[in-house]
Amino acid sequence: AITVDPKAGGAKIDDTMYGVFYEDINRAADGGLYAELVQNRSFEYSTADHASYTPLTSWSVTGSAQTLDDEGRLHERNRTYLALGAGSSVTNSGYNTGISVERGEKYDFSVWARTDGRASLTVSLTDSGGALATARKVTARGGWAKYEATFTASRTSTTGRLTVATDRAAALDMVSLFPRDTFKGRENGLRKDLAEKIAALKPGFLRFPGGCLVNTGSMEDYSEESNWQRKRSYQWKDTIGPVEQRATNANFWGYNQSYGLGYYEYFQFAEDIGAMPLPVVPALVTGCGQNRATDDEELLRRHIQDTLDLIEFANGPVSSEWGRERARMGHPKPFRLTHLAVGNEENLPAEFFARFERFRAAIETEYPEITVISNSGPDDAGTTFDTAWRLNREAGVDMVDEHYYNSPQWFLQNNDRYDSYDREGPQVFLGEYASQGNAWRNALAEAAFMTGLERNADIVKLASYAPLLANEDYVQWSPDMIWFNNHASWGSANYETQKLFMTNVGDRVVPSAATSTPSVSGPVTGAVGLSTWATSAAYDDVTVTGENGETLFSEDFGGGASRWTHTGGGSWSVRDGRYVQTDEAAENTMVTAGDTSWQNYDLSVQATKMSGK
Ligand code: AHR
Repeated sequence: AITVDPKAGGAKIDDTMYGVFYEDINRAADGGLYAELVQNRSFEYSTADHASYTPLTSWSVTGSAQTLDDEGRLHERNRTYLALGAGSSVTNSGYNTGISVERGEKYDFSVWARTDGRASLTVSLTDSGGALATARKVTARGGWAKYEATFTASRTSTTGRLTVATDRAAALDMVSLFPRDTFKGRENGLRKDLAEKIAALKPGFLRFPGGCLVNTGSMEDYSEESNWQRKRSYQWKDTIGPVEQRATNANFWGYNQSYGLGYYEYFQFAEDIGAMPLPVVPALVTGCGQNRATDDEELLRRHIQDTLDLIEFANGPVSSEWGRERARMGHPKPFRLTHLAVGNEENLPAEFFARFERFRAAIETEYPEITVISNSGPDDAGTTFDTAWRLNREAGVDMVDEHYYNSPQWFLQNNDRYDSYDREGPQVFLGEYASQGNAWRNALAEAAFMTGLERNADIVKLASYAPLLANEDYVQWSPDMIWFNNHASWGSANYETQKLFMTNVGDRVVPSAATSTPSVSGPVTGAVGLSTWATSAAYDDVTVTGENGETLFSEDFGGGASRWTHTGGGSWSVRDGRYVQTDEAAENTMVTAGDTSWQNYDLSVQATKMSGK
């Protein structure tokens, strides 16, 4: 029986409790959320990004062309450009199978070009079946300038190619093609289907831009020459301003990151979906296996100042230096930043914490209203985790970020993780978590776990599944919440769990107690729920009934036997008075007759009723 006491005071659940964590992993940005259709538009791909990359990756040349990085460049941060010979052309193959266009939709082409005299550029959109739109001509003349044209697709295709041909020699850079129909119709905008899927979650917050890519690689900024083609930590000033003046980066995840989707766009997106923006800045200690602390005091001071400038960029008046920059980009009103995290998964807790404290002190002095979030390393337990938590607790830090990726069983067994957390200590930001898989039972295990988060909403203030996005052809990390290719996107079962919780956030927890589950005795008919353990001793025959009353599983246990194989898939076992099913091959091998070691398997069946006698 379940006893509910509506009058008893349970924890208040904040509207911001469930959010999303966006990181540029699995090509989440270029070829994904960032709607640009041309890959390597600025010819910046290099071996620093990936051993197989060159400035011409995803381009093919007919005639003569070479990529150059010399004084004739478009911008000091956008170094390489293409010198295309007279009578030559270049063709871009986009992402996945190509450039995806839909019949009747408009596509905005632009290019930066430099010529001696006049050059006529012919721009065409084709696939193997021929033209996808009427070709366009633009006339380029003189120094670097931007030229534009619009296509209307006459056919739908997922294998399109964009070709730029010239009659006279011309230098080209930032060859770009955007669908007109971006999320909220924004220029330099986001791919609509992906942004809409994220928006449909109604996220309470948007954590960005990572993850490992925030604090790995060099901490120097792009202006250092030695840093031009090198993995750099994510530094927000590299990512704002006119797109043709933004740097690109050798992404931690092994590809080139354009920064077309930068800090302004993140803030804008957060605002557009009604989510609280929650940026993460590097703390000058590398994480994600790199474990290096930077001792350069000047560099540390510069990063702390950059963080203060970031707050000014988000919240400052238009009369301030960085508030003016925000206004210049199109958003005079503040972005209402209230939370900011310093660091991600540092393995060196003492070194991290010493630097974190410098950031925190500076932010609290200038912006006492901002909540500065610390973290607890990459694990859910262990020495690093304990040390980090102790340091955070002793220093009275407001909020600590936790990350873990564990088995579904772990999630089922740790529903009570936060029941015993110190209510006097820092609050918890569960910034990254996932059970290892995108199967139905992973989604169930996460849902079961989330009931524990919610029950502890007084201490767990924010939670986000990770990672959010994955292009199916460029996967560095799986499972992920939303999958896509160049023309379609689909949510995982885990996405549905997140959506269920995120679009139904309660106001407060109503305390309840269950007195008869999970032990089921005697003839039973009851809800299986998300996960249930049932004792076997009390019944011989067990039937698990599906949603439509169909029998999913029926077994005569005969009393006393310890293992049965269910032909519908997986093993069913009764061990130590527990009745279990598992459907993983690896787990099956562990459940053998006569095996005395008890393994904790979850009961993950798509059933609504279990009955036994
Ligand atoms: O979410 C994927 C990665 O997992 C993140 O970049 C990192 O913070 C964690 O290790």
